[in-house]
Amino acid sequence: MGKQRVLSGVQPTGNLHLGNYLGAIRNWVDRQHEYENYFCVVDLHAITVPHDPTTLANDTYAIAALYLACGIELDDSHIFIQSHISAHSELTWLLNCITPVNWLQGMIQFKEKAVKQGENVGTGLLDYPVLMAADILLYDADKVPVGEDQKQHIELTRDIAIRINHQFGNPDSPILKLPDPLIQKSGARVMSLTDGTSKMSKSDPSEMSRINLLDPPDAIAKKIKRCKTDPVRGLEFDNPDRPECHNLLTLYQLLSGKTKEAVQSECGDMGWGQFKPLLTETAIAALKPIQDKYNDIQSDRAYLESVLRQGRENAEAIANATLDRVKSAMGFSKPL
Ligand code: TRP
Repeated sequence: MGKQRVLSGVQPTGNLHLGNYLGAIRNWVDRQHEYENYFCVVDLHAITVPHDPTTLANDTYAIAALYLACGIELDDSHIFIQSHISAHSELTWLLNCITPVNWLQGMIQFKEKAVKQGENVGTGLLDYPVLMAADILLYDADKVPVGEDQKQHIELTRDIAIRINHQFGNPDSPILKLPDPLIQKSGARVMSLTDGTSKMSKSDPSEMSRINLLDPPDAIAKKIKRCKTDPVRGLEFDNPDRPECHNLLTLYQLLSGKTKEAVQSECGDMGWGQFKPLLTETAIAALKPIQDKYNDIQSDRAYLESVLRQGRENAEAIANATLDRVKSAMGFSKPL
């Protein structure tokens, strides 16, 4: 039996932050050798909200370099860029035509993002989950490691696959494979530095709300110094009245690699004045090796390009085979 296949992706919108790293990429890295992995940079998703064409290509390469810098190794993983493989766009169209529009209108993330954009909601934003379904289904992925907030998108992906299989396949040989989400444990949910009840997010307008993986030490120090705390003495996990306290202890736990119990006993009697420098030092030390490796990779463009070329070749062969299978089941003529 071969290894199960994993597919996941991150959008090249802005910098990756600790939430992306601790909630997603670090888990990919930790479990990479259990699976055969396809990790893409989903640049087609990045244009579902207004974007800057002068930075898109560089941002896309930066995310690919960060995958490597965070520790993705190439023996079990393929790294590629979504837009380099046209099958993603093409399968999206085929899936669009069997996806009821009310399934998309009901998606939580669409509703949230659409509200933020007011009048200027593109069709692409509504269609975003179908593109994501195409990403996953093209590779016959068994598992999709994502945060809790993406679970609804995986459910939709399954519903779309079921519909294709039902309408165009026969029960003995399904056309598309149904994927399962691989949801990270709740401990890895990283919240904003300025509000312990909302997720650390790229779209928060305040830079002070997040620590980016590429932030220099003085920026990390400043953000932690100014982050929101509370006036209670002593530090504790899991007190619903102290969401910031829980979040900062969790960050310390994840970045230091210590257990929750060890952190509780180390920090239980501390005040913020003692804890903040400790967290700062730990965050700077944890990010340094990633930043050093990132700088090495970015200074060797030929290496990064060769990784992405190889990734694309491997991924494209699988993607095209799936696309052919779907087109043939749907009754398209073969290109002459
Ligand atoms: N929607 C995902 C997110 O915002 C990104 C994404 C696009 C993705 N395509 C994917 C994640 C396929 C997993 C698999 O996090």
